[in-house]
Amino acid sequence: MSSALMPTYARQPVGFSRGEGVWLFDTEGRRYLDTTAGIAVCGLGHAHPAVAEAIADQARTLVHTSNLYQVPLQEKLGEALRDVSGMELCFFGNSGAEANEAAIKLARLFAHKHKGISEPAIIVMENSFHGRTLATLSATGNKKIQDGFGPLVPGFVRVPFDDVAAIEKAAAENPNIVAILVEPIQGESGVRAPAAGIAPYLEALHAICDKNDWLLMLDEIQTGNGRTGKYFAYQHSAILPDVVSTAKGLGNGFPIGACLVRGKARDLFGPGNHGTTYGGTPLACRAALTTIEELRKGPIDNARVMGERIRSGFLNTLGDLGVTVEGAGLMLGVVLPKPCGELVARAREDGVLLIVSAENRIRLLPPLIINGEEADLLVEKISALVRTFLNEGAAA
Ligand SMILES: Cc1ncc(COP(=O)(O)O)c(C=O)c1O
Repeated sequence: MSSALMPTYARQPVGFSRGEGVWLFDTEGRRYLDTTAGIAVCGLGHAHPAVAEAIADQARTLVHTSNLYQVPLQEKLGEALRDVSGMELCFFGNSGAEANEAAIKLARLFAHKHKGISEPAIIVMENSFHGRTLATLSATGNKKIQDGFGPLVPGFVRVPFDDVAAIEKAAAENPNIVAILVEPIQGESGVRAPAAGIAPYLEALHAICDKNDWLLMLDEIQTGNGRTGKYFAYQHSAILPDVVSTAKGLGNGFPIGACLVRGKARDLFGPGNHGTTYGGTPLACRAALTTIEELRKGPIDNARVMGERIRSGFLNTLGDLGVTVEGAGLMLGVVLPKPCGELVARAREDGVLLIVSAENRIRLLPPLIINGEEADLLVEKISALVRTFLNEGAAA
């Protein structure tokens, strides 16, 4: 029978019936090492006992009441996020795109309320990814994602990633700019990190925002929740942004996103400015609270240690073939000298799930709870596949 689903995804011919830690089991019972974690979502791994128990217990107690009323668990989660981020206030939604929508609306409100700018513009980056809603796909630096959906939402000025001079030039040319929206490490485009490191890049952006009275808005949807070895990637630097969007790993698979604000972005939204029916349900907040609690017990530090182990593992096994590694913590791009999309199927046949982005980058996003043995197995299996693949090319 033909599928009843819209064909929006090029799905692989495998489906899973259960998971445990870094492992997924397909409907035939075959085991796979999961280096994707549901695309940087399940930081605590699959079927984490504490998260499972929290969701089940909360589902039996109270799932949803709406934002017409006080939601005590939302307050608690707001405090937990404040604690891990240094930010001041939160707005809860259900996805990354929604968190970024809130950020984009905040930048516009900032322009109208505080700067008297009626047609505000936000600086965004080439090769960025911010989501699939109309505003977030307009902010995204990838023509393929925008094709067919014009007219795009106006008010975005695009510059190359990791190019501070281009931002300074845009600032001099365009008095309508009010904010920068940037991923500290670009995810969807294959894990592209600032060449000199996260800290100098973010510190330079922060200084430009300060000088021009702009908002620095960080899209930490992929980099956040421990992925890079700090709770948020900006914590590798000395700065605090004005706006942070988070989602993905926040609920370990339970859908929830948040937009965090401080300083001059803190008091922009008032009653009636923004909202969503499902934002911050007791169930979603309980899942996220438990996830944060568990992440802070060790997985974030583990991401740093295992990330280094995997990075040096690949450099040792594949460095001679011109393979390099970018990224931080357990957000790593293994960069091959040629397009390698076919490795996805080969790895799957070998019991490893992986993502290839930007044609020649293996994007590794394993659960943050991966242990040393599993990390070594990941390197061993993928290195063997890559070596065979690159040598085939050499022989041809
Ligand atoms: C950096 C970044 N921003 C935004 C999004 C969009 O998040 P969602 O798919 O939850 O809407 C993603 C998703 O991949 C992302 O990686």
